[in-house]
Amino acid sequence: MSMDSTIKDLKSGKLKTLIAPSVLSADFTKLKDELQAIEAGGADWLHVDVMDGDFVPNLTMGPFIVEALKKMTKLPLDVHLMIQKPERYIKQFADAGAEMLTVHPEAEGFIFGALDSIKELGVRAGMAIKPATPVSVVSNYIKYLDMLLIMTVNPGFSGQKMIKKALPKYQEARKLFGNDLLLEIDGGVMPDNVEAVRDAGVQVIVAATAVFKAKDYAKEIKILRG
Ligand code: DX5
Ligand code: ZN
Repeated sequence: MSMDSTIKDLKSGKLKTLIAPSVLSADFTKLKDELQAIEAGGADWLHVDVMDGDFVPNLTMGPFIVEALKKMTKLPLDVHLMIQKPERYIKQFADAGAEMLTVHPEAEGFIFGALDSIKELGVRAGMAIKPATPVSVVSNYIKYLDMLLIMTVNPGFSGQKMIKKALPKYQEARKLFGNDLLLEIDGGVMPDNVEAVRDAGVQVIVAATAVFKAKDYAKEIKILRG
C-alpha cells in the first residue's frame, strides 16, 4: 500500500475517508501485533506523533522509532512533527521512511525552510495548525502543501476532548485553498462525534484513543470511516 494509492482511492470516491490510527496510543510492549491488527482492520495510514518536550509538554519518538515502524508495517507513515525548529530533522525523518511530514507554523524556526526540504526530498508536505490558529495563516505556505491538518485538541496528549468550535475551519480552508488540498483532523475523534467530523468536510481522520482503546480495531475503523 502506498500513500499515492490511498489518496487516489479517496479522490475517486472509492474510499469515503482515510483512517490514520495514531501509534501514540498503541501498546508498545506488543507493537508489532498492534500494527498488524490495524493493518488487517483496514487502516490506511499510520499517524506518528513526534513531540519534543518543548513545542508541546510531552516527549515521544524520533527518527529512530520511525525507522523501526517502517520495518514493522506496510502502512504509509504520516508523521506529525510537534517540535521546535523542525528544519533540523527533516532529512532524518525522510530517510527513516516518512511519506508525509507535517510541521506547525506556531513552532520556532525556519518553517519555509522545513517545507522546502520536505519537497526537495520528494516527501509530501503537511501543515498542522492548533485549534486557535486561524486558517488564513496557512496562505503563506500553501504552495508547498499537500495536506492541512486542523487540530481539534491542543497538541501534546491523546485522550483529550474534541474542541468542536474548530470544525468550521475545514469549510473555510476548502473555500480558501480549493479541492486539491487534503484536509486531516487530529484530536478527540470518537464514534459519537465522527459524523459531525465527516460532515465538516474532513478527508483523513487521525484517531489514537478511539482505535487503540477499542476491543475490535476493525469494527472501530469501519465506524470511523462511515
Ligand atoms: C495530539 C496528537 C494526536 C493524538 C490524538 O497531540 O497529535 O495525534 O494522539 O489522540 P486522540 O485520538 O486520543 O485524541
Ligand atoms: Zn497527531
